[in-house]
Amino acid sequence: MSVVQLRDVSKTYGEGPTAVHALKGIDLEVEQGEFIVVLGPSGSGKTTMLNLVGAIEEPTSGSLVVDGIDLTTMSEDERTEFRRAHVGFVFQFFNLIPTLTALENVQLMAELVGKNHDDSLQALAVVGLADRADHFPGMLSGGEQQRVAIARAMVKEPPILLVDEPTGSLDLDTGRQVLAKLREVSDVHHRTVLLVTHNTAIGGMGDRVIRLHSGSIASIQRNERPLTPEEVEW
Ligand SMILES: Nc1ncnc2c1ncn2[C@@H]1O[C@H](COP(=O)(O)OP(=O)(O)O)[C@@H](O)[C@H]1O
Ligand SMILES: [Mg+2]
Repeated sequence: MSVVQLRDVSKTYGEGPTAVHALKGIDLEVEQGEFIVVLGPSGSGKTTMLNLVGAIEEPTSGSLVVDGIDLTTMSEDERTEFRRAHVGFVFQFFNLIPTLTALENVQLMAELVGKNHDDSLQALAVVGLADRADHFPGMLSGGEQQRVAIARAMVKEPPILLVDEPTGSLDLDTGRQVLAKLREVSDVHHRTVLLVTHNTAIGGMGDRVIRLHSGSIASIQRNERPLTPEEVEW
């Protein structure tokens, strides 16, 4: 069953002569548990696509069904509720709260969705950071901070993880560690991952690679044998 379904989805920002057609007629179906890498240069519409799937933005036209829920016509309250229950976000710059410990950062999200302290510790354990629970973000490396951000997204146990340029501010080795965790989360915990990046090398580790160009899908390619993060070079 497809967990993400976009039918002829377009997104235009603004109106008239200054309108920006960020996405143009996107058709895409993603199966539960797939690891999808969306590639494209800056400005090609990658973040817009994630924001539509995550109900942060509304499509201008077309239909969008995510985790069995029709996002096409939804009130603002319904979108907020959808974001809480169905998707987890991981961003380039981690977005951790510096004055809270790793555990407290995860706990903040956990409380929103009725999870407890043990669930938060468990989420940190999944990303290999149980022993850093009491550390503040400033005491953690960039890669560790990104793994806390993954734990924060995972504590909700969302079926879908939406990941925007996760290695954009990391060096090669820590970037690989983060990618390995994301792949593990997808494989072991059966999450669907939509990862967008301008880094073409990362395409090799997707089950499928979608290339965006100027708001349209230029190609969709299946990797018969996705690369392990250790095999990815950039
Ligand atoms: N909130 C916005 N208002 C106006 N234009 C936007 C907005 N967000 C994105 N855009 C434009 O839409 C296009 C696609 O942007 P984006 O999805 O962020 O691309 P990418 O993530 O691939 O770099 C770009 O031309 C960008 O300037
Ligand atoms: Mg972007």
